[in-house]
Amino acid sequence: MKLTQSDLDALPQRQRAAFINCLSGYKSANLIGTVGPEGQANLAIVSSVVHLGANPPLLAFISRPPSVDRHTLEYLTNSGYFTINHVHAGIAEAAHQTSARYGRDESEFSAVGLTAEYGALHPAPYVAQSMIKIGLALKDIKPIELNGTVMVIGEIVEVLLPDNALAEDGFVDLAEMDTVTIGGLDGYYRVEPLFRLSYAKPGLPPRRL
Ligand SMILES: Cc1cc2nc3c(=O)[nH]c(=O)nc-3n(C[C@H](O)[C@H](O)[C@H](O)COP(=O)(O)O)c2cc1C
Repeated sequence: MKLTQSDLDALPQRQRAAFINCLSGYKSANLIGTVGPEGQANLAIVSSVVHLGANPPLLAFISRPPSVDRHTLEYLTNSGYFTINHVHAGIAEAAHQTSARYGRDESEFSAVGLTAEYGALHPAPYVAQSMIKIGLALKDIKPIELNGTVMVIGEIVEVLLPDNALAEDGFVDLAEMDTVTIGGLDGYYRVEPLFRLSYAKPGLPPRRL
């Protein structure tokens, strides 16, 4: 099968979104935690978190256009902080449910059965049930003029994870934490480790660690 731009244009909107959303490959599964002006704990699943750089330690995610009520974007803009919480298999269904359009007064935490947890460094809520939790200070919101989305950039101020998740060389064993990955808009996958490989150098074959 071959699909060209005109084929894509002809696809019904939902089918097109489902298809295009699959094409970037497996995506990370994270819950963004934010706090509203009245202290409401807000939570939304995203599959667009990316690493921007380690020094300073920056992560980013793409938020859909701010044209409709986007609580996550509004709350992180106003509070200056947000959290990224890895989704593991045990909370994947609850995590998915956070994408439902809940009202401003309804916290996704209680609606989906997850627990808000707070640190001392910033006001944004973590997901207690998540194994790997990251607190970030908002650094920038970059508009993407092509489609009206924005890239939200945060600097890591705190990381909470079990001691046994972190290896001496800095590697975090995501599979051991049962962190899931996402395909498209609604496919959730458990991961089977393949191997770790040594730092690649010209003239040296890949070596398993
Ligand atoms: C699997 C999945 C991935 C999603 N990824 C994103 C994303 O990367 N960016 C985004 O803005 N919304 C994403 N969404 C939609 C948000 O979860 C949804 O719009 C949510 O209601 C936003 O909550 P808010 O109104 O509190 O901001 C995703 C939804 C699902 C089910």
